[in-house]
Amino acid sequence: MRKLIAGMKISVDGKMEGPEGTADWVEAWSEDYGLTSQIDACVLGGGMYPGYERYWTAIQNEPDAPVWITGSAPTPAEIEWARFAARTPHYVLSSTLSSALWPKTTLVRKLDEIAALKRQPGKDIYLIGGARTTASFIDAGLVDELRLIVYALIAGDGKALFATTQRRRGLELRKAQPLADGRLSLSYGIG
Ligand SMILES: NC(=O)c1ccc[n+]([C@@H]2O[C@H](COP(=O)([O-])OP(=O)(O)OC[C@H]3O[C@@H](n4cnc5c(N)ncnc54)[C@H](OP(=O)(O)O)[C@@H]3O)[C@@H](O)[C@H]2O)c1
Repeated sequence: MRKLIAGMKISVDGKMEGPEGTADWVEAWSEDYGLTSQIDACVLGGGMYPGYERYWTAIQNEPDAPVWITGSAPTPAEIEWARFAARTPHYVLSSTLSSALWPKTTLVRKLDEIAALKRQPGKDIYLIGGARTTASFIDAGLVDELRLIVYALIAGDGKALFATTQRRRGLELRKAQPLADGRLSLSYGIG
């Protein structure tokens, strides 16, 4: 069975974005969890998909231009992810979205379809977010691994990654590694 691995950038107080709806402390939205070589599919929620599609389309089309969330030109790792994302199937969980711009994007209506995707042959699957989708996937027992990059700040107001998680879950720490700028990379197995 393919593993489903969630990767998320959070503050020390567990916020994935500030009150304005962005995490302005994150300088680049590259895949920094070491996943790219082991995955061949991405899953994400309908809430974040339109912004995700807009952000990475902009980098695919104009890799030298500043991008709207960070306000800076994309980093080499962001350009690499933009290219990988363009050729990799994406599955978007939503009951309301009716179309996606990217040809390799499939709209998925029910969690059962993600469980079926895990049973298909292939490499692992990357759960990109957002908060509600990650919480509902964890509650449904679909997430095998959680990789967090914890930023060295208390964000205060904002959206907490686990705000809508319904039940307690034990985690098994598999790796902890300090990164530049006081960040910490954490990898947990979910039982
Ligand atoms: N810090 C980070 O690393 C990081 C990573 C990713 C995203 N983000 C941020 O997270 C924010 C988005 O998070 P969000 O919580 O607002 O939205 P979200 O998780 O992206 O999407 C929620 C939507 O997904 C669908 N959905 C989720 N679980 C479902 C289920 N079990 N069954 C059926 N449909 C389900 C529903 O869509 P319908 O209403 O259409 O049915 C729901 O409204 C964005 O602002 C993004 O920037 C941050």
